Order: sequence, then C-alpha cells, then structure tokens
Amino acid sequence: MKYRKLGNSDVEVSEIGFGAWAIGGGWGEQARDESETALERALDLGINFIDTAAGYGGGRSERIIGEVLKRRGNPKVLVATKTPPQQGAWPPSPYCRWQDRYPESYLRANVEERLRNLGVERIDLLQLHTWTRAWNRDPKPFEVLQSMKREGKIGLVGISTPEPDQNAVIDLMRAGLVDTVQAIYNIFEQEPAAELLPVAQERGVGVIVRVAFDEGVLTGKFKPGHQFPEGDFRRNYFAGDRLDRAVARVEKIKEAVGDCGYTMPQLALKFAMSHAAVSAVIPGIRSVAQAEANSAVSDLPDLPEKLLCDLRAHRWPRGFWYGGK
Ligand SMILES: NC(=O)c1ccc[n+]([C@@H]2O[C@H](COP(=O)([O-])OP(=O)(O)OC[C@H]3O[C@@H](n4cnc5c(N)ncnc54)[C@H](OP(=O)(O)O)[C@@H]3O)[C@@H](O)[C@H]2O)c1
Repeated sequence: MKYRKLGNSDVEVSEIGFGAWAIGGGWGEQARDESETALERALDLGINFIDTAAGYGGGRSERIIGEVLKRRGNPKVLVATKTPPQQGAWPPSPYCRWQDRYPESYLRANVEERLRNLGVERIDLLQLHTWTRAWNRDPKPFEVLQSMKREGKIGLVGISTPEPDQNAVIDLMRAGLVDTVQAIYNIFEQEPAAELLPVAQERGVGVIVRVAFDEGVLTGKFKPGHQFPEGDFRRNYFAGDRLDRAVARVEKIKEAVGDCGYTMPQLALKFAMSHAAVSAVIPGIRSVAQAEANSAVSDLPDLPEKLLCDLRAHRWPRGFWYGGK
C-alpha cells in the first residue's frame, strides 16, 4: 500500500481508503460479521483511512468502525465522518438558508453524536455532507467548525460536494475554509479535472475521491437488466434505462482498452488515483474479497499515458440521480 499526503495537513493516508456506506446499510442485506471482517482485512492490508457518515445506517457504520478500532487497540487510522444538514431538501435548494440547515446549536449537537458513535474524544476529519453555492457568500457553518477545531473536538474540516453542482465547493477552497474536499471523479464523471482538482492542488486542499465505480457499474460486473435486491438504493440510482445505458458504455470501454493488463475495477481505481491532486480514493468495501482486490490496486503500476488518454474519451456528462437520468 502506498500513502499520500492529505493536502497541507501533516497526515499521510493510504491511496485506497475504506468507503463505509454499505456496511451501515442501504445496499441490501449486509451481515454484521462480514462488515467487521472486511474492515479488519482492509486494516491488515494497510488501509489507514475510513470514510463514514451520520447517515450510513443512522450511525451503524460509525459504531461498527468505532468498535473494530477499539478492539484493535485504536491504531493510527484517520476516520472521516459527515454531518448532514437538518431536515429539508437534499441537496439543499437555492432557497434554503444555512441558518435553518446548519445552525450552530445543531452542528455542535451533531458533532457530539458523531463523537459518541465513534467512541472518540476528537473527530479526525468532520465533513459537511452536502452544500449549496447559495451559502458561499456567507459560509458561517465553517466558522463554527473552525472554532470546534480550536476547541479540540475536530482535527480537520472538510466538505463533500453536492452531486449536481460539485464546483460549488471551489469558493470554499479559495477562501481557505476547508482542509479537504470529497468529490466524485471517475471514468464517467471527469468534470472535476477542469477546475476543482487544479484549485485543490493550488490551495493544498486534500482530495478524497468517492464513487470511483459509479456505484459498482464501472467494475464491469453488471449485465443489462440486472435487478438490485430490495433495500439496495441502486434500484433508484439506476432506475429506468440508466443501468443498461451505463453497462453499454462500460462494454465500449472494455472494447477500447482490450487486453491492457488491468481489470475494470483496477482501471476505475487507477483512473481516479491518476490525478496528482487526489490524496485517496475510497471505494465502497463490504466484503473481504473487495478489501483485498481494492487494496491491491495501490501497488500496481500507474496507468500508462496512452491508456489514461483512451479512458478520458469515455467521460459521460449526464444529469444526476435526483433528477432521474
Ligand atoms: N455524498 C457523499 O458524501 C457520498 C456519497 C456516496 C458515497 N460516499 C462515500 O464514498 C464511498 C464509495 O462510494 P460508494 O460505496 O457509494 O460507491 P462505489 O465505490 O462506486 O461502489 C461501491 C460498490 O461496488 C462494489 N464493489 C466494491 N469493490 C468491488 C470490486 N473490487 N469488484 C466488484 N465490485 C466491487 C460493492 O457493491 P456490491 O458488491 O454490492 O456490488 C461496493 O459497495 C462510500 O462508501 C462512502 O464512504 C459519499
């Protein structure tokens, strides 16, 4: 496993992190012991960065992580979690006010809950789960988080991009309000390469890449008409003809790269890691096999320039799942 500096912080994170949404729930059946063994295996293999959130199973993902780390004697691992806005539109609408969605009293109470769930006295990295550019001219919630940092409740402060407008976080980076940004950057979604990633690099903001597999389809394992089980959010994400269209595009990628020496999951992760602004890619991991396959990608050679250029041709600008397709 190779490690990279998390922006300007003094922390080094594994290039491959552990995306801990599915172990919380929302992805169909997931046995507790399988979640624990997957996480244990990932830690054994050198993963030292875990991404979770309040919303992953209503704190279940955080509690599993807290328990596993405690059992292992609290090794040096960076755990990032997220505070969502108070009830309302997701992502926040242009008319939402931060005073209603991220008021100080709520932020403080929510961070206390994160501390309890993880069983720690300080959150290594606290990310706001979503945002709207409507708040960029008066980004007070970050002032609150910065004070909590000074009070020792939070180590680093981050933001996770709103899917329909990832560039909304660029002003926050320019204003020096965030230590990290969590963004979608994958073979389909390449827009961050235009501005978000270069600005992060200029400003020393750590970049965490999520959804490198586009919720699994970029692993190349789905066939047209694939049915997701009850309780798997992908029934909605891939609603209508979206899965079949995505699968058809993945087949084109496979044809284009031919026998390139990388499997589709390896290509997808290496593509996301190829940008110099990126500190860590956090594939969702829900089994030991996935922990092993994904961790191993760090040690593979970087993608040759020609292959990287070929993959760039497969970007797929599209609407986001809130709007359907
Ligand atoms: N707004 C936000 O801040 C936000 C939103 C989404 C995600 N995230 C974070 O980013 C992480 C990653 O995103 P994600 O989990 O949504 O999507 P993803 O990484 O694109 O896909 C993960 C899924 O792909 C499958 N998979 C993983 N490794 C595989 C492999 N080697 N071969 C074949 N299949 C494999 C697994 O599901 P199956 O085995 O069921 O196919 C896994 O749950 C999350 O866990 C979460 O921590 C944050």
